[in-house]
Amino acid sequence: MPTKHARIRTLEEYQEAYRRSVENPEQFWAEVAEPFTWRRKWSKVLDSDMAAGRNEWFQGARLNITENCLDRHLATRANKLAIIYEPNDPKTRHLRLTYRELHQEVCKFANVLHNNGVEKGDRVCIYMPMIPQLAIAVLACARIGAVHSVIFAGFSATAIADRVNDAQATVVLTADGLNRGAKQIPVKRVVDEALETCPGVRRVIVVEHLGWPVQMKEGRDVWYHEEAADVPKTCPAEEMDAEDPLFILYTSGSTGKPKGVVHSTAGYMVWADYTFRNVFQIEENDIYWCTADIGWVTGHTYLLYGPLLAGSTSLMFEGIPTYPDAGRFWEVIDKHSVSIFYTAPTAIRSLMAAPLDNVLSYSLDSLRVLGSVGEPINEEAWYWYYQHVGKERCPVVDTWWQTETGGIMISAMAGITPSKPTHAGLPMPGVQPVLLTQEGKEIEGNDEEGYLAIKHSWPGIIRTTYGDHERAVQTYFAPYKGYYFTGDGARRDENGLYRIIGRVDDVINVSGHRFGTAEIENAINHNQNVVESAVVAFPHDVKGQGIYAYVICQPGTCDGDKDKAHIEASIIETIVAQIGKIAKPDKIQIVSGLPKTRSGKIMRRILRKVAEGEISNLGDTTTLLDPAVVDEIIAGRK
Ligand code: PRX
Repeated sequence: MPTKHARIRTLEEYQEAYRRSVENPEQFWAEVAEPFTWRRKWSKVLDSDMAAGRNEWFQGARLNITENCLDRHLATRANKLAIIYEPNDPKTRHLRLTYRELHQEVCKFANVLHNNGVEKGDRVCIYMPMIPQLAIAVLACARIGAVHSVIFAGFSATAIADRVNDAQATVVLTADGLNRGAKQIPVKRVVDEALETCPGVRRVIVVEHLGWPVQMKEGRDVWYHEEAADVPKTCPAEEMDAEDPLFILYTSGSTGKPKGVVHSTAGYMVWADYTFRNVFQIEENDIYWCTADIGWVTGHTYLLYGPLLAGSTSLMFEGIPTYPDAGRFWEVIDKHSVSIFYTAPTAIRSLMAAPLDNVLSYSLDSLRVLGSVGEPINEEAWYWYYQHVGKERCPVVDTWWQTETGGIMISAMAGITPSKPTHAGLPMPGVQPVLLTQEGKEIEGNDEEGYLAIKHSWPGIIRTTYGDHERAVQTYFAPYKGYYFTGDGARRDENGLYRIIGRVDDVINVSGHRFGTAEIENAINHNQNVVESAVVAFPHDVKGQGIYAYVICQPGTCDGDKDKAHIEASIIETIVAQIGKIAKPDKIQIVSGLPKTRSGKIMRRILRKVAEGEISNLGDTTTLLDPAVVDEIIAGRK
């Protein structure tokens, strides 16, 4: 049973836990970690050197996370539902898996992986629709100690190849096809195209989902159902070191290609479980639904690992909020009596735009807690969610965190700590946020704004960036020595509640998805008509931020409107091929030059202001090489 510190039920308990977590982090986390299944306990709780980006938690401990997600529950929860799968089409039957069934399915998949030569430490990339086999495949990797790297099944072949090659994966798991709303996507074909440039992949295991014909490459590709036909339903869990990597998840930064964020086993496990249970105030009979795709970190920690570690029932949805209509989320909540609902502001905003009847025609009586994640939630969306979905009865937890933090860092605990619109709130126990000046000086006191950094290690902290530790150090630990730098700006209100303002680097957040402006520019520059490009964000009603691309074309390629339309379409095609549809710019403006300083640096501040429509206040443009370019850009603004 969890110790008294593992579950917080009152504000006083929160304050006490927080105080203890700061005064004696090692003792605090040792107590939280106690109830898990360990093959061997740790010899030291924490060994950390923040400046070197070295963070080791539960040193010397041995465990397998799937024993904690599955085996541990069999004695008391074998017949409890672990996963409810709600398919894309409401007319298709849903599926339920108990903890016993999920355990068996994971063991079978793990045996298939073994039989196909996957060993401890191997990297396995997974490109699959949101179907139960995706959850099963992820856990199967963890069962045998393979490092999973899930790639969101909306990324393009090129993006898959980049990730597979960077992770040096030898095996890829996929499906024949995917449903997303009214669309169907031939997932296996996308993988085939990607693997043309991935010489290291020797095996592809294909799950049958839509029953589509696919090309199977002799000697490389096998069907999962054939491989699983007569494998045992049990599979011993591989004993892992606390710090063995559990997964790699690629995420965008302000420079270069997306990097592989590495999380390790024990710290991530403890962090996922602790934050999940406390933020959502989970009770035994909750039906919990996180709408994120497992391809993102939210799906990893709060659809899969967190709920299963806590022995909860987690709903997994294959579709989209607006299919077949804008009432789908609410229909699913009523259908499965969902009590805790966790989604993104962009989904809320898109549903707000539909007639209110879409939500009012459902009872939503089962709901108890609402959560938000991925981007700042604006006041209007917060109130709409609170009033029309939560019926002013359900606390809203606005959870701030990042791929790199492994789990929730700053958030209300439902009904326990304060929940204020547009504010994430107070930090989790173990999280010591600070606001820094640009020079790195800590800003004391309340009612202040600054760069958000974290002072002390926490169990879920990023361990490295795959294959390039120096990159992790430079990105997160070197900017402000002794701190983890988040890349976000934040405000601390008069009561010490944190409000996240947004990124202070060249990362943009489109519908809760992170992109580096440089990453999109690189993609655009692959287009043969393009000489140079500059990408900035602008406020977007539904997506939070939209992508605005300024593009200089090759001389003679873009003279009339027809040329422009053609080039814009071809640029979009290039981005879709390089990254995926999710990175499509909202606006493309063809320009003859970009505002550059005499030293050749693009003045993005000006481009941002123009994209935002704030042209009356462009600031000092006298240092520009060619100030006339600004007038042209303003005149052609989209
Ligand atoms: O800018 C913050 C924003 O999303 C970034 C992290 O993105 P990612 O690693 O993709 O993880 C998303 C899911 C955890 C952060 O640096 N962000 C995330 N949650 C919030 C947020 N901004 C404001 N409020 C939030 N609740």
